[in-house]
Amino acid sequence: MGSSRPGDPASVKQLFEAIAPRYDLLNDLLSLGLHRIWKREAILWLNPEPGQRLLDLCCGTGDLALVLAQKVRPGGHVLGMDVAAAPLRLALQRSARQPWLPLGWQRGDALATGLAEASFDGAVIAYGLRNLSDAAAGLAELHRLLRPGARAAVLDFNRPPAASKTAFLQRQYLRRLVVPTARLFGLPDQYAYLEQSLLRFPSGPEQERLAAAAGFSHARHRLLAAGQMGILQLVA
Ligand SMILES: C[S@@+](CC[C@H](N)C(=O)[O-])C[C@H]1O[C@@H](n2cnc3c(N)ncnc32)[C@H](O)[C@@H]1O
Repeated sequence: MGSSRPGDPASVKQLFEAIAPRYDLLNDLLSLGLHRIWKREAILWLNPEPGQRLLDLCCGTGDLALVLAQKVRPGGHVLGMDVAAAPLRLALQRSARQPWLPLGWQRGDALATGLAEASFDGAVIAYGLRNLSDAAAGLAELHRLLRPGARAAVLDFNRPPAASKTAFLQRQYLRRLVVPTARLFGLPDQYAYLEQSLLRFPSGPEQERLAAAAGFSHARHRLLAAGQMGILQLVA
């Protein structure tokens, strides 16, 4: 596959179909397992409770949905939605090993989910917003799906100011560690996409403004991992 084009839905979908079999392993290798801690931060903000209906948008292989499904028992339900079939197949395999979890998976576009308005008590998007063709539209759809007062967490790479030391370190990490490691798995172009996708990703303060414009009553972008990652904490 040639290089992927950030913002082009077909190209992005194709990328995630291609990397799905290696996605979880590379996530663990490239973050030294730290992505689990950052995902835990998203769950802490969401503060899931038994009985709730929660949504994991751009769920991929289902890391967050699987944890959330434990927390909403009894009486709750979690839906994981992703546009690509390959990661969803892996998510389904994982949840089949825990058939007691109240969990469903659905193919769908985060920009036009087709789900009912105000039908969720909370939602997460991890490393998904950056991949959408329109982040503002993604936040608007997220807001539409949440009941008033519901919380959401949007976890992703942070986009630091281009001339900052944090941005320099991020470029070094992406170019000298991420792409060479992905090359070992035959996926250098797919992981070079990460840096490209960050160039068009809104900064934390921009995300806060977009979320307010989408109707969220509270929007705070918190830095994680010395500014390499960020979490947008939202209340609908
Ligand atoms: C980097 S992965 C993140 C997966 C998972 N949330 C995690 O944190 O491990 C991004 C996911 O977003 C999905 N995605 C990209 N564009 C999407 C869209 N328009 N609607 C729904 N999912 C989308 C991809 O298929 C991919 O599985």
